[in-house]
Amino acid sequence: MSLTDSIPNNVDLASDKKLLRALEQWQPDFKKWWLEMGPEGFQTDDIYLRTAISVDPKGWAHYEYVKMPDYRWGIFLTPRAGSGAAVDRPIGFGDQASTKAWEEVPGEFRGLLRRIIVTQADTEPASVEQQRLLGKSAPSMYDMRNLFQVNVEEGRHLWAMVHLLHQYFGRDGREEAEALLQRRSGNPDTPRILGTFNEKTEDWLSFFCFTMFTDRDGKYQLSALSESGFDPLARATSFMLTEESFHLFCGETGIERVAQRSAELTKQDANGDARKQGGIDLPTLQKWINFWFSSAVELFGGEISSNAADYFATGLKGRFREKDKYTDHVALEGSYEMTVLEEGRIAQKQVPLRNAMNEILRDEYVADCERACRKWNHTIKKAGVDFELKIPSRRFNRNMGMYAGSSFDPAGNPITAAQFEAGRQQWLPTDEDRAYVKSLMVPVTEPGKIANWIAPPKQGVDGKPFDWQYVRFS
Ligand SMILES: [Fe+2]
Ligand SMILES: [Fe+2]
Repeated sequence: MSLTDSIPNNVDLASDKKLLRALEQWQPDFKKWWLEMGPEGFQTDDIYLRTAISVDPKGWAHYEYVKMPDYRWGIFLTPRAGSGAAVDRPIGFGDQASTKAWEEVPGEFRGLLRRIIVTQADTEPASVEQQRLLGKSAPSMYDMRNLFQVNVEEGRHLWAMVHLLHQYFGRDGREEAEALLQRRSGNPDTPRILGTFNEKTEDWLSFFCFTMFTDRDGKYQLSALSESGFDPLARATSFMLTEESFHLFCGETGIERVAQRSAELTKQDANGDARKQGGIDLPTLQKWINFWFSSAVELFGGEISSNAADYFATGLKGRFREKDKYTDHVALEGSYEMTVLEEGRIAQKQVPLRNAMNEILRDEYVADCERACRKWNHTIKKAGVDFELKIPSRRFNRNMGMYAGSSFDPAGNPITAAQFEAGRQQWLPTDEDRAYVKSLMVPVTEPGKIANWIAPPKQGVDGKPFDWQYVRFS
């Protein structure tokens, strides 16, 4: 099999010998990384996985049993509208709005663009590393399969970004591509670039929170890049978004299933204590939500940001649904009203639009999280339990940006550092909580069976039932 066959692609790899050689050199290093840092203990099993083999809907939603190391990690760019040879798409926003999108990296934006791509790329292998041991404690075969689906797709996202680095950034790009396989999540000497991607993800509640909150940041970042003036990046991230939606589904429905089971067990127990029934109680679920949400909102960057203004001005990174949602794509006039912290006080402030881009994206994200939370609460209510989960204020528990260094309760009220420390135990996971949740993580590997702390899904994958044999152990 030639490399072109082993890397399914729609970028005509076969005709670009230089690129082919570069990826040929990178591929064994990637495989080595996958075997060392990918899901531990399941590399020889057959997993019922969706593999992208082309970009049309039938091709990318193709399911079959594969061993993970044989997954066909490919390079896919969303086809250009109109499918002409020339790029006819205009740049959608910024100083050069409506001039022709770039097929090559403009020299003056090379550094910025490389930073954007490397930062995005780094999150992909990081999450695989974070989730490496979770297969061993999967609450059901269905969940195990979903975990591996997420993992191989994050591997593919790494390929998508590495392709851009190799094709457009020459020697620098090749070095960055190597470095992406050298850094390790949580390793103090060679950590991953962004904080959240160094957090431990040792239990399934964390996995669901990660795919709900952290992957959802990815959705908004990728969306903001999917209309980028650099056309290959726009097309790469567009296709990544189609895969990402499944990751978000795992997170959102995962938390919903935990909430449902928690509510059922709360009802069952004479004292309303789900822990007594071997489950995760709702206040504990809330703590996990507080922790992961407050970690994920950091990823949107500073509230008032000249970097964000530059990214927008240069046409590299837009807003969420820039094309459909907005009419003014230059954003030089007008301002955005946001909440700010000024001299220790919460105030409203008009900020020049371009400098508010991070906060505008964060607002979209927070609204999306709140939508999901309303669904969870509906589930809890339907089970007959009087408890409401809440998405905490974006000010709560922050280490970066405007709110870092100040203290707020989960509702966003300013408090003293001492009050925060006093509340910590009740707001964020304690060591004891983590140990308890971990104690529930016993593997359930028989098809159709499920751990006590989580409800089964409403349906299986690819039209298959929940009790389907999603994994064939070797
Ligand atoms: Fe990803
Ligand atoms: Fe993802």
